[in-house]
This record gives sequence, structure tokens and C-alpha cells, in this order.
Amino acid sequence: MIPGFDFSQIQTPFYLYDLDLLEQTATLAAREASRYGYFVHYAIKANHEPVVLEVLKRAGFGIDCVSGNEVNAALDYGFPANAIAFAGVGKTDAEIRFALENDIFSLNCESLEELEVIAELASKAGKQARVALRVNPGIDAKTHHHITTGLNENKFGIPLEQLKAALDFCQATSHIQFIGLHFHIGSQITSPDPFIRLCEKASEIWEAYDISAYGGRVLNLGGGLGIHYEDPAANPVPDFASFFRLVANHLEIPREVKVHFELGRSLVGQCGSLVTKVLYVKKGQQKQFVITDAGMTELLRPALYQAVHKIENPGSENPIQPYDVVGPICESSDIFAKEVMLPKTSRGDMLFIRSCGAYAQSMSLRYNLRSSAPAYFFRQKEFFSNLSNQPELSIPVFV
Ligand SMILES: Cc1ncc(COP(=O)(O)O)c(C=O)c1O
Repeated sequence: MIPGFDFSQIQTPFYLYDLDLLEQTATLAAREASRYGYFVHYAIKANHEPVVLEVLKRAGFGIDCVSGNEVNAALDYGFPANAIAFAGVGKTDAEIRFALENDIFSLNCESLEELEVIAELASKAGKQARVALRVNPGIDAKTHHHITTGLNENKFGIPLEQLKAALDFCQATSHIQFIGLHFHIGSQITSPDPFIRLCEKASEIWEAYDISAYGGRVLNLGGGLGIHYEDPAANPVPDFASFFRLVANHLEIPREVKVHFELGRSLVGQCGSLVTKVLYVKKGQQKQFVITDAGMTELLRPALYQAVHKIENPGSENPIQPYDVVGPICESSDIFAKEVMLPKTSRGDMLFIRSCGAYAQSMSLRYNLRSSAPAYFFRQKEFFSNLSNQPELSIPVFV
């Protein structure tokens, strides 16, 4: 996969990131967003590796967080507080206090109940909390049900019937500064329709509730843009140009409103692979199992929501045949792929599980007391393991 690199001496499994591709993706996304004056927060939950964050910081993105520790990490890695948004249905008092102390860009509030707590904590801290109201728009993102967030049955966001009450509460409470609306309808959305619906609905709500009159000046449309898991080589960079154009064509909001996004997967998904060694090729009664040294602990997505990742065995050119590729974890759901066609695979082969830049390393588990898999990075012909030996910053370390 990467000509000239000998991975045989490296302990597997590990995550491998292509920083050239990441940089290309980030540059393109930033350029296309800037055509319309849009601002992008990177959803740090997708991947919080410091080297990855460094590239995204240089590209000029803010950060979208869903925990106090993510806010802390964003600040630690040098993202400005005024570019940090913080969503989540269950923020603790300590997390809210921390966000207030650091004066972040916005607390994206998800319920009337949370709004009251934010007001109380802001009052105690003698602060004014900047708040965006996350609205549940009742839109089907047409993605896997576990990553759909904008339906009425989902726990996320303020139900539309309660929006007026929330707006009035903000207006009546001196410790809250209402800045605008927030939406996020789901992840891995591959059709334009849900985004069109979102733009129409957000515009409709903005007008119907006279959000500008309440002081609204920010419309945050969240993330969700999908990537091509089936063929990452042919589709390494998502079509940001079409995405932002679609939004620009379907939003009807006052000119002065600043549009924000929270992109995660689309920025980092394609730049990473999970590299794993084949421990055994086991002949079952009806099928052959390729048993790898990586499992659901390093890549949870297939077990969690039947996600499909392309698997490659670049070291073999033998005839293609079907395998079930499974991990070593003591769970029947520890399966990467069923009946996947691979060249003849043998013990010791290295497999590359593609599109693992997002929601792979950041979702990793210590279940079964597994060791944490390390991350390595490459840039053209250089290979390195952390920020201090990143080639651009200091002397490269070759393995
Ligand atoms: C509130 C919020 N914003 C943004 C994102 C990023 O979504 P994606 O990685 O699909 O762009 C998520 C992810 O689920 C989220 O929960």
C-alpha cells in the first residue's frame, strides 16, 4: 500500500495515517467553505490524535466537542476558545462550569432542563453563557438508525414544540446570551436529500420563530457528510464543493447570519487505516475464517452498526476467495466482514482495513484488557510516530 515501507518490524495492530491526504482534504474543505463565508468546527470525537489535530488546526478549523475532556483537549492543543462549540444531551455541572470559565464560543443546549442549569451555573459564576439551542428538526437522515440523531424519537435536541419556551427563557435570563440555532441530524449521510430538508427546515424555523429578533446570528448545521467506505482509493476526498453549494442553494436566512458546520468523518475518515496481522486462517465447517490480531476493540463500527470497511491484503496476489475476517475478542459480534473476497490469505499476512481515520482509534476499547494500538503517520516517503518527530517539525524518524 505504501511502496518502500517495511511494516514487518512494527508491532501490530496499529493505526496508520496518511498526512498528505489529510492535509489535502482539510485544505479543500476549508477552501470550499470559505467561498460562502462558512465556518467549520472539526468534530474532535472522530479522532483526537495530536498529529491529526495539528494539521486541522493549521487549516483554520474550530472544534466541536461533546465532553468537557474534549473541550480541555481542544484548548490544550491550542484551538482558540472562541472557536469551540460544546454539544451533548448530558453535560455535567462540572463540564458546564469548565466551559463557562473558558469562555468558549457556544454551549449547544439540548433541553429546557439543561438551559435552566446553564443559567443557574452562569449566574453563580457571574458569567453570561453563550448558548445556541440545538433543535430536533424531525428529519430522517436516511443513515443507519444508530447514527441518526434528528428524529423525534431520538434523545438529541430540543423538540420543536418547546423552542418558543426556550427562546423566551433565554430572552428573560440575563445570564444567557442566545447566539443562534444548532442542528445535527446524523452521520454518514450519503444522499443530498436529508441536507436539503435540513436547510429548508432550518430556514423555515428561523423565519417562523423570528430567531433574528431574539438576537440569533449563528446557524450551526452540524456534521454528517458521508465518505465512500466501499471504494476509498477511488474516492479519497469527499465532494465538499457540492456539499457547501447545496447548502448555499437551499438556505434562506438573513444575510448577516453566520453559518457553521461540525464536520468529523468527512475530514479525517479516509486518511487512516487499521493495520493488522493475520494470526490464523481457520477452516470452519462451511467457511474460512481469517483471524486477525485487531478486533472490535480497535475498530468498533462493524460490531456497533454493521459498518462496512474495505479490507486489503496487498502482500498477496493469489486467487481471490471468500473469507470471514474476524478479530480475537471473546464476542460473536467481533467480525470485520463476512464473505469478503481476498487474495489467498495466510498466517503472517498484513491486512489494511481502510477508512479508519474517523471513529476507529477514538472509539477504541480496553475490553479483554487489550493494549492500546499505537498510531503511526506517513507523509510522502517519511514515516513517524508522534508530533515531536513529525518531519515538518523536526528530524524524521524512519523505522
Ligand atoms: C453534535 C455533533 N456534531 C457533529 C458530529 C460529527 O458528525 P460527522 O462525523 O458525521 O461529520 C457529531 C457526530 O455524531 C455530533 O454528534
